[in-house]
Amino acid sequence: MHEEFETTTVEFDEETGVGYLTLNRPDALNALSAQLRGDIVAGLRTLNDLNDDGIVMRTVVIEGEGGNFCAGADITEFEEGPPTTEVDRSHYQFIIDYPLPVIAKIRGYCLGGGLETAMSCDFRFAGEDARLGLPEVDLGIIPGAGGVQFISRLANPSVAKEIAMTGEHIPASRADEEGIVNAAYDEDELDDAVDEFAETLASKPPLALQTIKQSANMATQTGLREGREYDRKVFEPLLATEDHKEGARAFAEDDYEPEFTGR
Ligand code: COA
Repeated sequence: MHEEFETTTVEFDEETGVGYLTLNRPDALNALSAQLRGDIVAGLRTLNDLNDDGIVMRTVVIEGEGGNFCAGADITEFEEGPPTTEVDRSHYQFIIDYPLPVIAKIRGYCLGGGLETAMSCDFRFAGEDARLGLPEVDLGIIPGAGGVQFISRLANPSVAKEIAMTGEHIPASRADEEGIVNAAYDEDELDDAVDEFAETLASKPPLALQTIKQSANMATQTGLREGREYDRKVFEPLLATEDHKEGARAFAEDDYEPEFTGR
């Protein structure tokens, strides 16, 4: 399956269950125009809708065309008014709430809203040449989609202040050390590493993955006790799923590869 929107492309690999969404404005380093923000949502929706058509789409990789992930909000559109900061209507929140795991594969520049897009994803893997940063300070503004909040949680508030106040681009190795990306790889190893990770996720029981995503999102908003109460509540329905039975059967029987269906 291959579908083109004006500024994104989506593809789906039926064999692995992995979908790919490519940001496709390479001449502007994939800067987030209003069109691109809309096309990200449209592309993700199209991929998830495959599941309603009986095709099993399990996880999505987001990447940028032309060697860069994304150089942030499209500055040329600022005169028309700032990009929407309405949290619930943004493509950032759409990714956070998306029912499937989303992986950002980061090459080249990943700045401002580009980094915020990557940090809205569940996982980030970067090539060694990637450069990440929050340069908004040099425009006299701050990252408007939660950049400081994200880095405060992934790393710590001091690292968030350093990156947002200096506006400097940090290399993938530093982002890896700070926990801002899950791992950094040699450029020529990145594609295979991400595919392997995505395929591992795609082989797991979808409802359990969805529940883990919601639980981890909840963890950043609650105290431990309330969070554990939440986990207990969402754990119980999983015990009744076919996938739980399938996993238990595979554990009990040698040489039996489980096939999870999301039921
Ligand atoms: N918005 C709109 N256009 C952008 C852009 C952005 N955020 N970032 C890059 N572009 C465009 C440039 O205007 C240029 O277009 P042109 O070829 O029509 O002149 C093209 O992408 C290539 O960028 P260029 O600046 O020539 O590349 P470079 O390699 O010299 O520098 C960056 C790369 C990323 C360091 C530089 O483009 C930059 O600082 N971009 C802005 C990053 C930013 O502040 N993002 C946060 C916005 S709130």
